[in-house]
Amino acid sequence: MKKLVIATHNPGKLKEFLTLLAPLGFEVTSSGELGLPEPEETADTFPGNARIKALAAAKASGLPALADDSGLSVAALGGGPGVFSARYAAGDYASAFARIIEAAKAADDWRAWFTCALCLAQPDGGSATYIGQAYGRIADAPRGAGGFGYDPLFIPDGHEQSYAELGSAVKDKISHRAQAIAQLKAVLGAG
Ligand code: IMP
Repeated sequence: MKKLVIATHNPGKLKEFLTLLAPLGFEVTSSGELGLPEPEETADTFPGNARIKALAAAKASGLPALADDSGLSVAALGGGPGVFSARYAAGDYASAFARIIEAAKAADDWRAWFTCALCLAQPDGGSATYIGQAYGRIADAPRGAGGFGYDPLFIPDGHEQSYAELGSAVKDKISHRAQAIAQLKAVLGAG
């Protein structure tokens, strides 16, 4: 079985990756499990940061590595927090939700979208990056307890419930991360 490192220390992301990658039949491990250090995310784009994380894990482990850089963009914040989503919340999602709702209310603009840049890197430095996006709107209050990060705040187009309420069975079919992985699967011939 081919080995693959998931370059993340985020348990929410790792859980989604394990489900989404299961059909590909890799023996999956994570950078957290291998005790690899987390590189600094010095790029200001999703693909740039995904590549930094994937390459660092591939080089340190000697195995192919997959990383994503992802985040929520809010129209009322000019597309922010975007690549700074984790830093915008700084662990306090209740406060981040309140700040985003306030901005959406003030601008009367509730549009939002998630982006996932997914990078597959090889120990020799080769890499390929795929982008997935999911469009929707900000909920007027956080809803649901499932998922992670901004899941309670985001209602994807075509739905009336947040990612957190919809749960993984629905989210894993439509999410930004699922769409990026679908491209990777197509390239790997795993449809
Ligand atoms: P990263 O680890 O620098 O890519 O940080 C991404 C951050 O964006 C996460 O910590 C979450 O705050 C947010 N994020 C990315 N994807 C999702 C998702 O699927 N649901 C909720 N929040 C997400």
